[in-house]
Amino acid sequence: MTKQRVLSGVQPTGNLHLGNYLGAIQGWVEGQKEFENFFCVVDLHAITAPHDPRTLAANTLTIAALYLACGIDLEYSTVFVQSQVPAHSELTWLLNCLTPLNWLDDMIQFKEKALRQGEHVSLGLLDYPVLMAADILLYQADKVPVGEDQKQHLELTRDIADRFNHLFGQGQVLLKPPTSLIRAAGARVMSLSDGRRKMSKSDPSDLSRINLLDPPDLIQKKIKNCKTDPVRGLAFDQPDRPECQNLLTLYMLLTGKSKDQVAAETAPLGWGQFKPLLTEALIESLRPLQNRYQALIADPSYLEEVLHQGSYWAGEIAHQTLTTVRQALGYWSPRGSKP
Ligand code: TRP
Repeated sequence: MTKQRVLSGVQPTGNLHLGNYLGAIQGWVEGQKEFENFFCVVDLHAITAPHDPRTLAANTLTIAALYLACGIDLEYSTVFVQSQVPAHSELTWLLNCLTPLNWLDDMIQFKEKALRQGEHVSLGLLDYPVLMAADILLYQADKVPVGEDQKQHLELTRDIADRFNHLFGQGQVLLKPPTSLIRAAGARVMSLSDGRRKMSKSDPSDLSRINLLDPPDLIQKKIKNCKTDPVRGLAFDQPDRPECQNLLTLYMLLTGKSKDQVAAETAPLGWGQFKPLLTEALIESLRPLQNRYQALIADPSYLEEVLHQGSYWAGEIAHQTLTTVRQALGYWSPRGSKP
């Protein structure tokens, strides 16, 4: 039986944080043997907000290296850079022309980001979900591991695929509508400064998150400063204590202990006793990942080769879909060649 295909991507905006890791990439790693996987660094998405050309390339390599450092295995997965496969841009254009504008202007993420960007909102930001649809549909992906915040984009991808098939498929499914792969609960990591908000790259305060490449002294400082509460004793599932819930959950996920074990261990503790335990767990679980990252980034030619091969293989598959789409849309091509 052929394996189902999985595709996902992360934008090369700076570093990855613990929320990206526990909420997404760790799930990709755990599931990778079961699927045929494509993981891309979505650098075309990165310019939908104002960006710095001096850091884009380095950030792209950082994310690719972090994928590998987190345990993405090239035996099961293809790692590539989105902009190295031109079919992503081209399919986006073709899909743009059959996507009704009103499907895009009430996307939640567009509205939120547009508010943040003020008067500099680009057409590209509005088009972000169509580019994401192209990423997915090019590979005929069966499953897309995404967080809650991306569910609406995945719905749109399905709608675009259905519409394309309906209008141009002549009864065939030319673009496969994907389904989402949502991780089991417990992997939603919250901000260190507000237990009710998600840990996020866009939070202006770096103290609100643990980045995967934070050195031990910085991790210690962040945990020392993180928000807690004045209640005595630590326990899970207390509705008014989101910070407590988040920090205990983090400790549980990092140490691999069960919820009951953690509950028993931490019940008699105060924050002053628990924080060093959590700090230690963070430092120790990130250490091997950081070591692997340093080794990868010290050998640019290896990483370059990985991405070169990844783009080549991804390009082969993407091009097949693009050809199908061009044919279905009726494009001219020189005789003897495919459109
Ligand atoms: N929009 C996704 C995010 O911000 C990133 C992304 C781009 C993506 N293309 C994708 C995720 C394709 C999954 C599949 O998280």
